[in-house]
Amino acid sequence: MPANCVRKPKNISFSEAAGVSLAGLTAYTAMINTCGMKAGDRVLVNGGTGGVGIWAVQIAKATGCYVVATCSGQNIERVKGYGADEGVDYKQDDLYADLAQRYGDEDRKFDVVFDSIGTPELYHRCEGFVKPTGHVATISLPSDTLTSAISAGLSFADAKLRPTFLGGNKIPYSFVMLKPETLGGALRQLASWLEDGKLKAVIDSEHKFENALDAYNVMLSGRAKGKVIVKME
Ligand SMILES: NC(=O)c1ccc[n+]([C@@H]2O[C@H](COP(=O)([O-])OP(=O)(O)OC[C@H]3O[C@@H](n4cnc5c(N)ncnc54)[C@H](OP(=O)(O)O)[C@@H]3O)[C@@H](O)[C@H]2O)c1
Repeated sequence: MPANCVRKPKNISFSEAAGVSLAGLTAYTAMINTCGMKAGDRVLVNGGTGGVGIWAVQIAKATGCYVVATCSGQNIERVKGYGADEGVDYKQDDLYADLAQRYGDEDRKFDVVFDSIGTPELYHRCEGFVKPTGHVATISLPSDTLTSAISAGLSFADAKLRPTFLGGNKIPYSFVMLKPETLGGALRQLASWLEDGKLKAVIDSEHKFENALDAYNVMLSGRAKGKVIVKME
């Protein structure tokens, strides 16, 4: 669609531009188009150091939000470097109890939760740290095997449909998919933020096309620190 084509900002390389589109658009669509994120909101990014999470943190900050991101303990300073105001270590006994303790007061609860990891339990227990007017959006559900995919699908449906008298909660919960008609506007905003230096593309590694399998392995490791780029000369 020509309306979805946007000029690469002059101040970023082609490799950096390659890392923007899918991950940046996914974060933008989830937080802005789906959750209606706006300046002044309090935002939780679950998985702030992943390929999409890095964009989510930066987009929330560029929008003017207060941002808390989960990551492993050793990456807390790194996630703050992307713009998060606070980092919370997800490798603890009960992350959701900790979030409720830290952010359970009404004025500290979140307006928007962006879940890049796909943890239905986060939604089931989010009333302790998300405002009743808030919104939880996920871009991923655990699906390593057919069984886990079915179980994740059922868990998502259960979370969305369970009535409150059976323990369900009323906070909206969305699984986000990209819609072609919104991509052009989102890409233009991302390009403008990149031009202004409000967003920065973070690249984990670049690989030659003949080494594409190495790139794939880095992605599968779940430990990539930014986008993994395959170059076609
Ligand atoms: N990449 C895309 O363009 C894209 C687009 C749409 C959808 N998706 C989907 O979105 C999901 C995430 O993709 P991704 O590329 O962002 O993944 P990724 O880069 O592989 O994510 C890895 C990061 O996840 C963090 N992490 C792992 N387990 C965590 C947990 N329980 N809580 C919080 N953080 C955790 C790790 O943080 P630490 O290193 O700090 O431990 C690691 O940095 C995937 O299911 C993918 O299919 C991706």
